[in-house]
Amino acid sequence: MSVSNIVLIWFVSLLVPASALDNGLALTPTMGWLQWERFMCNIDCDADPRNCIREELFMEMADVMVKEGWKDAGYEFVCIDDCWTSHRRDAQGRLQADPKRFPSGIKKLADYVHAKGLKLGIYADTGTRTCEGYPGSLGYYDIDAKTFADWGVDLLKFDGCFMPDWHQLGEGYTNMSRALNQTGRSIVYSCGWPLYEWQHQQPDYEAIGKTCNHWRNYKDIYDQWSSVKSILDWTADHQKILVPVAGPGGWNDPDMLIIGNFGLSHDQQQTQMALWAIMAAPLLMSNDLRNICPKAKELLQNKQIIAINQDPLGKQGYRTLKGDSFEVWERPLSGNRLAVAVMNRQEIGGPRRFIISVAMLPSWQLCNPKCNVTQILPVYKEMGVQNLFSEVMVQVNPTGTTLLTVSPIKSSPHDTL
Ligand code: GLA
Repeated sequence: MSVSNIVLIWFVSLLVPASALDNGLALTPTMGWLQWERFMCNIDCDADPRNCIREELFMEMADVMVKEGWKDAGYEFVCIDDCWTSHRRDAQGRLQADPKRFPSGIKKLADYVHAKGLKLGIYADTGTRTCEGYPGSLGYYDIDAKTFADWGVDLLKFDGCFMPDWHQLGEGYTNMSRALNQTGRSIVYSCGWPLYEWQHQQPDYEAIGKTCNHWRNYKDIYDQWSSVKSILDWTADHQKILVPVAGPGGWNDPDMLIIGNFGLSHDQQQTQMALWAIMAAPLLMSNDLRNICPKAKELLQNKQIIAINQDPLGKQGYRTLKGDSFEVWERPLSGNRLAVAVMNRQEIGGPRRFIISVAMLPSWQLCNPKCNVTQILPVYKEMGVQNLFSEVMVQVNPTGTTLLTVSPIKSSPHDTL
């Protein structure tokens, strides 16, 4: 590592809020691909070899990620979810991959993924069993952490099903965090802790931030608009609790991107992408990258939206306005810039006009004396130089979102106001 890299890492570490897990990872939200929503627990490789959970699926995704520009766009992790293990641990008590579906083993798969310049994620569970009934890690945290590190795994999604006593969720998640750190390998730690704790009480987000690199808060995403809406509503309703804990090293995870699948219209896919960028969410796609329509691909690889998601300031955005079937969400960006998303929640009629002004949006103050406005969605459009008194009109399709960035222009001594 060069001296300049060390200085950069030291400098960035100064920006990390005290509450974030200090393993140096996930300084911006994790980007990659995750098996679950699209491929679930399909283990019937005889009948459905192309879509079942076996090593070829992950190798093929890794191939496509490199060939089709996904890696270049920033998507780095190829993540295995539930149903990869054999139903029995080995004689030493270690987890082992299902021998029929992963005949080469996870280490070989990790080598394959690493040779492509990508990283491998794996899945395990704090309790006695995974959500689909495979062996859980309770009583085996140290062994499992060591096994994953020996294999060269780069991310662990640690689920929270079948924890015999929910009071022990916190202890379980912190013990696994310690076990991962003790391996000495850099392993991004993705937790289900708050998702399972909310069922009983409000989770301790300070502890979660110190333990996990990202954490699921709310129910599983489905391939349907009502699911995306409910995640957005829940997040906005809890934003006072969620937004302050997010930052470099620790992120709220509203679950996978389902763009490129079956359930969302193109406007709804744009809404998911825009709002996941505003929420500083991990961008973990669950779709079939081997067969994805060009429009979905273009949206998922949109550089400007990804730049908002990955903004180095690392502040999560929030909903600032709700009314007349519109919602406005904002996210502060580095350089005193702002991302603004205007969503049309009306599910009847056609495109509706929305006027952005300082009266609607107090943060428009950054346009004093001037600012530059760029529309990123639904299509890229320079909207020119604006000032404090401007009224910027956008047209938003039903269930769609207009996404803008607003960048202040510094006044020069020659300017007259
Ligand atoms: C839970 C998680 C999902 C997925 C499944 C696997 O429901 O929330 O994301 O990992 O388990 O069984």
